[in-house]
Amino acid sequence: MELKPLLTAEQIHRRIREVGKELTHAYQNKDLCIVLVLKGAICFVADLIRALDLPFHLEVIQCKSYGHRGTERGDLEIIGLDRLHIHNRDVLLVDDVFDSGATMHALYQAIAPQRPRSLKSCVLLKKKIEHTTDIRPDYVLFEIDNLFVVGYGLDYKEHHRGLPGVFVLTP
Ligand code: IMP
Ligand code: MG
Repeated sequence: MELKPLLTAEQIHRRIREVGKELTHAYQNKDLCIVLVLKGAICFVADLIRALDLPFHLEVIQCKSYGHRGTERGDLEIIGLDRLHIHNRDVLLVDDVFDSGATMHALYQAIAPQRPRSLKSCVLLKKKIEHTTDIRPDYVLFEIDNLFVVGYGLDYKEHHRGLPGVFVLTP
């Protein structure tokens, strides 16, 4: 396994400052509720909330879409739906990567019945592939090729989450 640098911490932080300003503008006078999709979005959300200049609620939810083998998709499981306080709030789902889109699709399906006032999404990465859903994230920090990436919260079998930047993992 080899790690090749794709995005530096500096590139990521620059984009986060830009999107932080956009979100601060877009959610003025709204009731922003950020829903952190664990675990992959942990670094992203930690930095994003420090780039916002407005009040917000923070909620968490956990999605498991990969089995123990790391890059192969298993059954999708959503944990923590019953603990969300999002009714009538302006929900912004924040995830690490929009790949097939299946996870985001399932999240929208699961969250919409809780009647948020609005429901949007923000992802660090979006892969340039055909997606399996019509849903698209409203805020995308980087579009990347169809590569398996790790670092800045993203893992391969729980490895490499703590890297400060994003790296391509190649066999
Ligand atoms: P989707 O359901 O295919 O859009 O996949 C989304 C989820 O799969 C993400 O939230 C990640 O947890 C995981 N995932 C997809 N691509 C990668 C990758 O390149 N590296 C690490 N995790 C990934
Ligand atoms: Mg994830």
